[in-house]
Amino acid sequence: MKKHTITAALPYANGPLHLGHLAGAYLPADIYARFLRLQGKDVVFVCGSDEHGAAITIRAKKEGRSPQEIIDKYHELNKETFEKLGISFDIYHRTSEALHHKTAQDFFLKLLENGGEFDEKETEQYYDEDFKQFLADRYITGTCPKCGHEEAYGDQCEKCGSALSPTDLINPRSSMSGKTPILKPTTHWYFKLEKHGDELREWIETGKINGIQHHNPEGWRKHVLGQCLSWLDGGLQPRAITRDLDWGIPVPVNGAEGKVLYVWFDAPIGYISATKKWAEDNHKNWEDYWKGEDVELIHFIGKDNIVFHCIVFPAMLKAHGEFALPVNVPANQFLNLEGRKFSKSKGWVIEQHQYLIDFADFPNKEDALRYALIRTMPENKDGDFKWDEFVALHDNELADNLGNFFNRVLSFIQKYCDGKAPAFDANISIKGATEDELSSYNSFCKEQILPLVEQLEKDILAFEFKNAISTVLEISRLGNAMFQSNAPWKTAKENPESAEIPAVLALGLQIAAVSAICIEPFLPFIAAKMRGLLGLKDSAAGVFEHLKIKLKAGAPILEQGNAINEPEVLFAKIQNKKDNRWMELVDREKNSLAELMKKFEAEEKAVLAANEQKAKAESQQTSKEAVEYDDFAKLELRVGTVESAERIPKKDRLLKLSVNLGSEIRTIVSGIAEHYAPEDLVGKQVCIVANLKPRKLGGYESQGMILTAETPEGKLFLVQPEEKVENGSVVK
Ligand code: 2FM
Ligand code: ZN
Repeated sequence: MKKHTITAALPYANGPLHLGHLAGAYLPADIYARFLRLQGKDVVFVCGSDEHGAAITIRAKKEGRSPQEIIDKYHELNKETFEKLGISFDIYHRTSEALHHKTAQDFFLKLLENGGEFDEKETEQYYDEDFKQFLADRYITGTCPKCGHEEAYGDQCEKCGSALSPTDLINPRSSMSGKTPILKPTTHWYFKLEKHGDELREWIETGKINGIQHHNPEGWRKHVLGQCLSWLDGGLQPRAITRDLDWGIPVPVNGAEGKVLYVWFDAPIGYISATKKWAEDNHKNWEDYWKGEDVELIHFIGKDNIVFHCIVFPAMLKAHGEFALPVNVPANQFLNLEGRKFSKSKGWVIEQHQYLIDFADFPNKEDALRYALIRTMPENKDGDFKWDEFVALHDNELADNLGNFFNRVLSFIQKYCDGKAPAFDANISIKGATEDELSSYNSFCKEQILPLVEQLEKDILAFEFKNAISTVLEISRLGNAMFQSNAPWKTAKENPESAEIPAVLALGLQIAAVSAICIEPFLPFIAAKMRGLLGLKDSAAGVFEHLKIKLKAGAPILEQGNAINEPEVLFAKIQNKKDNRWMELVDREKNSLAELMKKFEAEEKAVLAANEQKAKAESQQTSKEAVEYDDFAKLELRVGTVESAERIPKKDRLLKLSVNLGSEIRTIVSGIAEHYAPEDLVGKQVCIVANLKPRKLGGYESQGMILTAETPEGKLFLVQPEEKVENGSVVK
């Protein structure tokens, strides 16, 4: 039997997680794992805390605690919060566990032993003489060579997003002593990623491993494939997988004292050690879930982790030689909050645990949140969490559709059938969703409910969770429509003995039971409540398959005579004139964001005004005079392809674009919304000024400028290459 190994990115145990994380990786992974269990599949769903790396030591320093205290605190908080939100990990492990250390060290040693996978190289690295230690990339700050930002880190400039090496920084400073670090020679192990380039390309492009079909690449998301191919096209380089640090997993080699494995080397191995621990505790064999042809490994991650899960870790697994590669990596894009990127430092954030505290008394707070996040899930483009939408989705869809239907079924059963599941009669004709459509119980099950259930299955297996949940809501919508056209309450008045009444209610009950089962992967709390009210047994492994069999046969899921409970309100509306408590909570959240927004807008306006003034001053100085070639040559103009484009709320002139420059994806905010619709831009090639200093526009950092030609009437047209050229091509 196939083994399904489902992983969700191990979050750093250096802080609480926010809704973007939940919608990005954990919720989709949970839906998928829960569904596979309902199908009766053999599943292990693993996650845990990523507890090494500079992220932890920096947080420890900030909080004046030891790294151990930090990881203990946030491991517990994150684990508990996931549990409360119904994320059904089979294990939430830790990379600080001895079992993980040993697993990662053994992995390293196996690569060493296989030979040809590593280069041991001496290079010069920054060293803090006061603290007598080499500095992690994150511990070095300096001026970004690309944009001039003075607080760039040794691995990345957070202002312009460029990936950097510490030696790229101008005026580097150690954040330990604040002094200029010196360069000192040190030896490290480099993983020869490029050695696996051809195999990786075959696997990614064709879905084959050594010529044998492994998965269907058509099932991979376009943006995931795009990122992988641009990495492969850019040429893979050896990557240092050890560091001089005192926090991490010691490199298990004589003479490597003071060196640890790089956190991105050990973290993905954390999926394996988590599986080992789970297998140990549950009398299973972990290798069944990682090795051999029966393994279906799926990584759920956010888009910032694509390269590690689609290039580096698969190369490590290949280099090791015994492991299966993932069959899919359905990485999500990012979720925004009310139109802006989540930013913890700016306070523009909703943390998962804080939501649970703030909405503690709100019934179904977990499922209400899950629902809103699923409906706005950033599957193929960035999503946006909005409080108004949260309310509307809850009230109009959950309460008015699902809740209302369920309530009607249960109260009719009480009223007309003494609280017992009525018998179904295959010969009685029942009106369908419309009055003129006549059907029997059997054909309704087969022809109307079953296709929706099958569609749901298809959607989930294709990682289309947004569509999938809409399909579930279609089921209860169908139930409501069926009731409406049959109006059993009318029949009861006119002909109380009519056999049509129990027949219609039996069908209503059938649809309610189907909804209760199908909603489980998405909204597990409400599903349990629905099952309880219907007297349905616990959600057992394989129940989904039984459901399909019953629907195909037109057989009832609930046996005749089953006791059905009195209805209970499933979803108390948030917008409720009689009880304003929940709306007040939402308003409080909205107001605090609105206050922050005002502050940001004032700041941005000031920056914009300053920029404009600067630009004006500059343009006056150089006002269209002849320039030297060298001046012109300072501009870096490149061709890129627009991968996505969207409007920015309340900014009528601006569009936010993602432009693929081959080696990187840039976010560019451009004032062309009045000239081009977002959908017309996707796929088009554009010329951009690639070395323009990033600036804030419409709440986003614009990392470049699109070149356009302006007609005397003020109409803008894109400047484009005559034929398609490679992304990143230089314009000169
Ligand atoms: O980006 C992050 O939060 C990393 N801690 C994810 C690690 S995923 C895996 F490799 F463990
Ligand atoms: Zn920069």
